[in-house]
Amino acid sequence: MIGRLNHVAIAVRDLAAAARIYRETLGATVSEPSPQPEHGVTVVFITLPNTKIELLEPLGEGSPIAGFLDRNPDGGIHHVCYEVEDILAARDRLIAAGARVLGGGEPKIGAHGKPVLFLHPKDFCGTLVELEQV
Ligand code: CO
Repeated sequence: MIGRLNHVAIAVRDLAAAARIYRETLGATVSEPSPQPEHGVTVVFITLPNTKIELLEPLGEGSPIAGFLDRNPDGGIHHVCYEVEDILAARDRLIAAGARVLGGGEPKIGAHGKPVLFLHPKDFCGTLVELEQV
């Protein structure tokens, strides 16, 4: 059911410092910061030949990554995003299998303008999983 790895998201406290590490130390192609107030994060997109990395910094009050950074003060991998062809069919299959779909199960429009869902980390090997319809 899942297809390509769309991106790995890394939560960071200092987006400028993290972007510098990827641009200068690792020599990657790094975007300018993109504030996404509706998602409570500012994002830097890193384009690799086979996938993307997204650096996420909290934006505003009640950011969804604030708690994660409290538990992981150095930052860390926040979620992985897999592509699916039909997000509603994927959701229904996962719910039938007993998996927990976050946010009431209705897809939202994600950072790339496409429908996304998040799956409970306790059902997926301790990793928050994002599904994106492509
Ligand atoms: Co994501």
